[in-house]
Amino acid sequence: MNKIRILSIFGTRPEAIKMCPLVLELRKREQIEPLVCVTGQHREMLDQVLEAFAVRPDFDLDIMKQQQTLTDVTSRAMQGLEQVFAGQKPDMVLVHGDTTTAFAAALAAFYAKLPVGHVEAGLRSFDKYSPYPEEMNRKLISSLADIHFAPTEANAENLRREGVEKNVFITGNTAIDALKYTVDKEYSFTEPALRDIDFSRKLVVLTAHRRENYGAPMENIMDAVRRVARAHRDALFVYPVHLSPYVQETARRLLGSEENIRLVPPLGVIDMHNLMARAYMVMTDSGGLQEEAPALGKPVLVLRSETERPEAVAAGTVKVVGVTTADIVQNAELLLAGGEGYRAMARAVNPYGDGEACGRIADDLLYYFGRSGSPAPDFGKTHK
Ligand code: UD1
Ligand code: UDP
Repeated sequence: MNKIRILSIFGTRPEAIKMCPLVLELRKREQIEPLVCVTGQHREMLDQVLEAFAVRPDFDLDIMKQQQTLTDVTSRAMQGLEQVFAGQKPDMVLVHGDTTTAFAAALAAFYAKLPVGHVEAGLRSFDKYSPYPEEMNRKLISSLADIHFAPTEANAENLRREGVEKNVFITGNTAIDALKYTVDKEYSFTEPALRDIDFSRKLVVLTAHRRENYGAPMENIMDAVRRVARAHRDALFVYPVHLSPYVQETARRLLGSEENIRLVPPLGVIDMHNLMARAYMVMTDSGGLQEEAPALGKPVLVLRSETERPEAVAAGTVKVVGVTTADIVQNAELLLAGGEGYRAMARAVNPYGDGEACGRIADDLLYYFGRSGSPAPDFGKTHK
């Protein structure tokens, strides 16, 4: 019997972190021939992840431009993918999450009449412009996809409410699978800027990069961090700064000369996960960090006005604090004060997965293609 040719397509750092463990899992399945195409929507930040997981793409469209627009990414990715699809004729295309690479790949696959599998399906903020453009990307991908891998039951419910009921599987999030691969108690950091960190200080890991925060919200976030850092000289803030020229400029201007704020280059994923594992708390507008930090028992302040990941908020380890300076300062101060408020949030919870999502996705794919009698049991039903 022919092998099922599954072409995974991704282009940015977070997609790579969550798709590489799946590619490694697909390679273990005899009935599957896994192929990888990266768009290169990110360059350095993508390559760091490919290297960490030792995944060598079969195709690299290398589309990134400095200060690229959404149209640049969409059109360049679609044009490159059209050629790859024509040459390779995969049985299915897998995309991840909500980036513009993921949307462009799903649309290009539809144009080529190729089935689409959507990993990390069903997340919703219910606000078209926040996160922007991710909320619309993921909704459009749900319309284009043929099989949907929802991390949680709530994500599957969001799909059902939109009339997407067929081929929805609840798998957990592959981010938690990635953590199993990366976090190590004995780890030594490879990034020189991390080697002399004094872990007896309260370590606050900070990230901020979202497009909808460009402008006043980003300035507020950085102003708030600066104020909190000045009031807490015992704490050390480590901010791996995204390579977006806007983010680089703003971070350097507002945070670049503070004694206890360290701006460091984007970290390799193994450094990053181990840094978070040693942190006191996390402040972020990232999606992925909202999944990883709770699993590591680290309180998270979300520097956004909404989240599409309400599960850890309900569990009490994540708080959405918005993007005004006063709110961010107040909430950061509360956590840095320690005590019961901090302890209540610093608990390891895993609403997003048990580290077995990739195995479930592979099993569900085999079931979809009629190569096995049943899909994997849903995450949350057999594993708590
Ligand atoms: C993208 C995703 C966002 C995701 C984020 C993860 C879209 C629309 N946005 O946003 O959902 O949260 O990635 O980080 O898909 N750059 C480099 N080198 C790199 C990466 C970026 O120089 O390795 C610079 C380039 O100037 C590039 C700019 O950053 O033009 C912005 O990158 P882009 O992928 O367009 O947007 P992100 O904000 O990274
Ligand atoms: N990350 C990383 N190095 C960094 C910052 C983040 O490896 O310097 C990881 C992080 O642990 C998570 C992912 O990148 O797995 C999140 O990516 P990002 O914040 O860029 O995007 P988002 O999750 O918001 O889409």
